[in-house]
Amino acid sequence: MGLIQWAIGPWGNEVPTHIAWFLIWVCAIAGLLFMIVHALYVGIFAKPRKYSVNDSSAAVAAVPERVPRHSFVARAFHWVMAISMFALLITAFLPKVGVKFDWVTYHWIAGLVLSASIIFHIIHASFWLDFWSIWPDKIDVRDAKRRLMRALGKEAPPPDRFAKYPLENKFYHFVILCSGLAVICTGLFMMKRVSTFGIFSRNPYIFGDMTWGLMYVLHGLAGVGLIALIMVHVYFGIRPEKLPITKSMIFGYMSRDFYLEEHDPQRWMIEKTKKGPGYAPSDAD
Ligand code: HEM
Repeated sequence: MGLIQWAIGPWGNEVPTHIAWFLIWVCAIAGLLFMIVHALYVGIFAKPRKYSVNDSSAAVAAVPERVPRHSFVARAFHWVMAISMFALLITAFLPKVGVKFDWVTYHWIAGLVLSASIIFHIIHASFWLDFWSIWPDKIDVRDAKRRLMRALGKEAPPPDRFAKYPLENKFYHFVILCSGLAVICTGLFMMKRVSTFGIFSRNPYIFGDMTWGLMYVLHGLAGVGLIALIMVHVYFGIRPEKLPITKSMIFGYMSRDFYLEEHDPQRWMIEKTKKGPGYAPSDAD
């Protein structure tokens, strides 16, 4: 049972054509297992979190009731991306598990929406948002070691509270970035193989069979990987302790109490700007 489907090419050589579709189930089950194991770990074994906190009273007093976290533009991007991602998963995989419909046109339209939204996001995050807020820093690495030691029952000082994004979120962002870019880059080339009402001129001869095959395989592998990644993302989004973060992706802000509990005002500073008190630099449009 191979991971890739093969066919005999025009020159009699074997060429890859698609991934093996049982990988859909492998990834869905992996996502489900992750959720079950994580829920059991948090419910049974994990100790309550402890952070080192030494906020000055002036720093605490400067935090507004509602701490802005995501600007309107950042939230709009997130939800456009989310809708297109679900549309892509549904149109790609339902037909493979037996729900037959004419999926290709819906799929590439959703693919173009995702591609456009990601290009927008890269520009927006590079020039308007705090680009480095989503990449791990030295304190994240130090605190990951401290958290691991403490989880194993060894002596270690408590970690600092997080900056704008916890390390896990930064890691997730990186993985989804890689798989997202893989489906987008391959998907845009694959548009040359299907009828796109003239948006892309059809030309299946720009690559040979081997290159096309590898492209379909990479598209498929990154695609099934996204099944597990999106399942885990939704799971965390609806976990009770993460709901304040999810709500901030709808309403744009989080409560002062949640901010002070999980975030270090030294690492994620709130700036007073003309947009009103408590506007964070990484939220600027
Ligand atoms: C969540 C993201 C995506 C997933 C899960 C996904 C999944 C898939 C899968 C499983 C296939 C079938 C591949 C095969 O037959 O081996 C496919 C085909 C295709 N996808 Fe995607 N895809 C995604 C994103 C995109 C994007 C962003 C684009 C365009 C920009 C795109 C355009 C296409 C095209 C044109 C095909 C070829 C259809 C054909 O040749 O019949 N996809 N996709």
